[in-house]
Amino acid sequence: MSKVIDGKAFAEKVRGEVSKQVDWLKSNHSITPGLAVVLVGEDPASQVYVRNKGKQTVEVGMNSYEHKLDTSVSEAELLALIDKLNNDDSVHGILVQLPLPDHIQEAAVIDAIDYRKDVDGFHLTNVGLLNTGGEGVVPCTPLGCIMMLKDRLGSLSGKNAVVVGRSNIVGKPMAALLLKESCTVTIAHSRTQDLAGVCKEADILVAAVGRPEMIPGDWVKPGAAVIDVGINRIERDGKNKLVGDVDYASCEAVAGAITPVPGGVGPMTIACLLHNTVQQAARQKGVELPA
Ligand code: GUN
Repeated sequence: MSKVIDGKAFAEKVRGEVSKQVDWLKSNHSITPGLAVVLVGEDPASQVYVRNKGKQTVEVGMNSYEHKLDTSVSEAELLALIDKLNNDDSVHGILVQLPLPDHIQEAAVIDAIDYRKDVDGFHLTNVGLLNTGGEGVVPCTPLGCIMMLKDRLGSLSGKNAVVVGRSNIVGKPMAALLLKESCTVTIAHSRTQDLAGVCKEADILVAAVGRPEMIPGDWVKPGAAVIDVGINRIERDGKNKLVGDVDYASCEAVAGAITPVPGGVGPMTIACLLHNTVQQAARQKGVELPA
């Protein structure tokens, strides 16, 4: 088996499963799941994400609703739109693309989304459910990582997992998911002493720091599974290039399994968003999806 974990192929498989679940909801319960995405402003990276989300939502048979707002929109206007979407029965998932402009408080906006329609797992209720063993929705990127790890390694129980990065979007929920799988979990970050030594203990190493090629191969335990969440644009030899948070060539040489950038974690994020949307649609209607 190749060491390389093919996130693109895995994402296709997840989308195939979501597509079947959407068909099942349509045929058996006359529900077409709907995902509303709200984009504020003109950030080019966000525009690309939102376009891809909309396209893939439709491809799996769900309805996609896009709301594009001017950068100058007030927080009150954005909250009014969220209230409308919370009360719209054709909308089962709501995603407000981050980052938001500085004059809008992200926490207030996330909290305004009905947690039953939250598909990012950012709402405090879903954060709480994840950390107390409840049935909530899980942030898309960590969910994609855990799916790939379980697929490749089987049981994760008892393994040493090190997550480098402590963001609310990736690092913390990733650690919670690994703990749920009975790993021994360490969250390392920029202030960690002897980061190299900590990483070297990891059977599972998740890099989510947002610093290009920061982790070299000699920080990796031979045979470890390396999950690279980083997507960094750099210029090399006069060309633009996408690289992860790990130095791929040297890490690949020692790892037992590794996700590439691009084509690893990235494609899984939108696939997991679609997964979360169909799950939320089923939960809202009180129906159990077939496995
Ligand atoms: N911006 C970049 N990635 C994401 C994501 O997964 N969810 C939201 N809401 N905003 C993002």
